[in-house]
Amino acid sequence: MTYKRIVILTGAGISADSGVDTFRDPDGVWSQYDWQEVATPEGFARNPVLVHDFYNMRRAGLAEVAPNAAHTALARLERDSHAEVLIVTQNVDDLHERAGTTNIIHMHGEMKKVRSQCDGHVLAWHTDLSVDTPCPQCGEPGCLRPHVVWFGEMPFSMDRIGRALAECDLFVSIGTSGNVYPAAGFVAEVRAKGHAHTVEINLEPSEGHSLFAETAYGRAAETVPQFVDRLLR
Ligand code: OAD
Repeated sequence: MTYKRIVILTGAGISADSGVDTFRDPDGVWSQYDWQEVATPEGFARNPVLVHDFYNMRRAGLAEVAPNAAHTALARLERDSHAEVLIVTQNVDDLHERAGTTNIIHMHGEMKKVRSQCDGHVLAWHTDLSVDTPCPQCGEPGCLRPHVVWFGEMPFSMDRIGRALAECDLFVSIGTSGNVYPAAGFVAEVRAKGHAHTVEINLEPSEGHSLFAETAYGRAAETVPQFVDRLLR
């Protein structure tokens, strides 16, 4: 393998084979919930109980799922290749870490963390959260929120991601529909800034599929290990 800096963008499709619902597939999360009610700052201000219930349910669901062969293959790529491998995930689950990945940015936050709205402090969190939960920092109830990025909020670590996109020589997008910016614009950014090879791996062509130099379609648990085997050969 000749690549030296690899950036891999992942979305809900990589966790689908673990049994985690995607968002926009026919039976996805947004067919069951109104994103404006559960994934916006305005929705949280209107009905924090509903929003806490939504994330409590999803956080508890993480105990029922495990990394699949796609997560494991990407951890193997980081461990066994000479390239620097950075995973930029839109996912708020912890399946990449549980598979062994260490170099990862959760641009949309993490379900197993909460944040104090009083001072911005971020805490690991494994149980339910409610409007009555006192903040361990300041003792105030109602000041903790899920440490996730809602629609209308700025994703995390955009400077670091921008530098990695500019410097990479391979950009791979896995399991994302390409509907949500800024992640949906990463492939165009890579093409504008450098000469990296670009690959899309997804169940079906995404919104931005025509911008990728190479594509592979199928279930991530099958296509990703095949792709990683090829890179490590
Ligand atoms: P989507 O639900 O929009 O897209 C998931 C993609 O995965 C689709 O293109 C599916 O075809 C594909 N897919 C489904 N099953 C697959 C499988 N077994 N193997 C490979 N691909 C599969 O999810 P995202 O693109 O991740 O943000 O959504 C981006 C953001 O929109 C999320 O982070 C979330 C959501 O609203 C916020 O909540 C802010």
